[in-house]
Amino acid sequence: MDAMNREPGGAVRRVETHPFNGQKPGTSGLRKSVREFSQPHYLENFIQAIFNTLGAEVRGTLVLGGDGRYGNRDAIQRILRLAAANGFQRVVVGRGGILSTPAASCLIRKLEADGGIILSASHNPGGADGDFGVKFNGANGGPASERVTAAIHRESGVLDHYLTCDSAALELDRDGCHDLCGMQVDVVDPVADYADLLETLFDFDALREMLGGGRFRMRFDAMHAVTGPYAREILERRLGAAQGTVMNGEPLEDFGGGHPDPNLAHARDLVDLMNGNDPPAFGAASDGDGDRSMVLGRGGYINPCDSLAVLAANAHLVRGYGDLAGVARSMPTSRAVDRVAEARKLPCYETPTGWKFFGNLLDDGRITLCGEESFGTGSSHVREKDGLWAVLFWLNIIAVRRQPARAILREHWRQFGRDYFTRHDYEGVDSVDAEALMASLRERLAGLPGQAYGEETVECADDFAYEDPVDGSVSQGQGIRLYFKSGARAVFRLSGTGTAGATLRLYCERYERDPTLLELDTQRTLAPVLGAAAAIAGIEAHTGRTAPDVIT
Ligand code: G6P
Ligand code: ZN
Repeated sequence: MDAMNREPGGAVRRVETHPFNGQKPGTSGLRKSVREFSQPHYLENFIQAIFNTLGAEVRGTLVLGGDGRYGNRDAIQRILRLAAANGFQRVVVGRGGILSTPAASCLIRKLEADGGIILSASHNPGGADGDFGVKFNGANGGPASERVTAAIHRESGVLDHYLTCDSAALELDRDGCHDLCGMQVDVVDPVADYADLLETLFDFDALREMLGGGRFRMRFDAMHAVTGPYAREILERRLGAAQGTVMNGEPLEDFGGGHPDPNLAHARDLVDLMNGNDPPAFGAASDGDGDRSMVLGRGGYINPCDSLAVLAANAHLVRGYGDLAGVARSMPTSRAVDRVAEARKLPCYETPTGWKFFGNLLDDGRITLCGEESFGTGSSHVREKDGLWAVLFWLNIIAVRRQPARAILREHWRQFGRDYFTRHDYEGVDSVDAEALMASLRERLAGLPGQAYGEETVECADDFAYEDPVDGSVSQGQGIRLYFKSGARAVFRLSGTGTAGATLRLYCERYERDPTLLELDTQRTLAPVLGAAAAIAGIEAHTGRTAPDVIT
C-alpha cells in the first residue's frame, strides 16, 4: 500500500475496527454527544470513512480546525495521524486548532485544497456533557453534498480498519511547519486570510470612520465561541472600534457554560444591554463556529428572513456586491427576499434547509446572496454562511445610508411590505411520535385543500421536493408546506441537527402590505395561522404538547 512506504518518521498502523451504528451526517455533518464520540475508534472510523469516500487519488491538501469546544485539540491530533497514514501530502491547521466555519471555507478555496474537516457542533452546547461534531467540506469550500454524505455513511457501516501512525502531539499554539509521519503540517493564523477577504468586499475606510470615532457604538457578542479572535481583529484592530466592543471574546471549551446560539434567549448579555439604559446603536452575536449571526438594532432584533431581504435590497451600496446574479433562500425562510428579487428582476431560488443546497447555485454563478431563517446569511465569497460577514454587510449599509438599522428595516417594509414570520420549536419530542405526525400529514395532504380551520382555509399543500437545477439531483421529503387562502403559509419539518429525540419545527408567515399595519405584534398577528397549522397537524394529539419550547 502506497501509504505504508512513504513515512520516514513513524510507522503506519492498521487498526482493526467495527462499524458503529448511526454515523449518519445530518443537516450539518455528524453531530453527537461528546460521550458518544468518546468511544474508542468512533472518531477514527468516521474520518476513515471520509477518506475512503474521497478515494485514494484525492490525497493532496486538507484544511483542519474547529470551534475550540471540548475535544477539539485531541481530535485534531488524531485526525492528523490518520491523514498522514492515509497518504495526504499536507494539512493546514488553524493555530490553537481554531478555524471558524467560514474561515475554513475561505482557506480551502484560497489554498485550492481538496477539502477540509471542521470540528464543530455549531450552536449546540459544548463541554464534557455537551456535543461534538465533524463536518466535511469539499474542494469548493462548501459542505459535502447529500451524495457525498450518503456515501460516507455507507462507508462507515462497512469499514473494518483504519490507518493511523504513531507520533507525538504536534505543537498547535505556534505558527510553524512540521513533518508528521512524512506529511507536511502547517499551523497558520486562523484569522488573517479571512479578514483580508472581507476587506476586499466592504468599505473598510467608511467603516473605520464610523466605528473609529466613537460616534457609533456597537457590541458584538462572541458568546465565548470561535468568533472572538475574528471579531477582535476585524472590529477592534482593523476598524478601530473601541476596546470592549467584542464581549465574551475568549473561546472556551464549554463556551462559559452557555449555549452558543445567537438568538434572543441565549444571547442574553447582549439583549439585556440593548434593552438597557443608553444602549449601543447596534448589536450582533454569532454562534459556536461563527457561521450564524443575529443582528439587533435599537428597539428590537432583525429577523434573519428580513435581514436577507434588506441585504439584497441594499447590496448595490456595498463595494463587493454591485451586481447580484440572483438570490436564494431555504424553503422555510419567509418570502421577504422573493419580493426584492421580483422588484429587481433577479432570479430567486427556493432550496431545502441546509447550506449545502446553495453550493451548486453559487458555484454555477446563479446566485450571489443566500440565507436561511436559522440565522444564516452568506454570499459567493465563501461556501458557508458567515456571521461576521453579515454583521459587516449591515454596518456597511448603515455607514452609507447614515440611518440606524431599525429605520432601514422600517423603510424596507414600507417599500416591499412585511412578511411577519415566526418559528415554533417543540424540542425533545419522542422520535416515533414526531415521525408519526409527519407521516399523518403526508397521508392527508391531498384532502387538505378546501378545509377551514378558524379564519384560515387551506388552498394547497405539498411535501417539498427540490430538483437541483445544476446537477439535476432530487431531494424528497424536505418539509410539509401548507398555503392558506389568506396568503399565509405554514411549514412543518423535523430538525436535522439535534442529538437527542426529535425537534418539530413549525414555521408560519403572513404578508402585510398595509402601511398602517407594519408594526404589529408578530405572535398575535400570526395566531390564526399558528392555530390552524397546529390543528391540522394534531400537534397536541401526537406529542402531548400544548405550547412550543422555543419561539423565534
Ligand atoms: C445548520 C445548517 C443550516 C440549517 C440549519 C437547520 O445550521 O448549517 O444550513 O439551516 O442547520 O437546522 P435544523 O435543526 O432546522 O435542521
Ligand atoms: Zn454554526
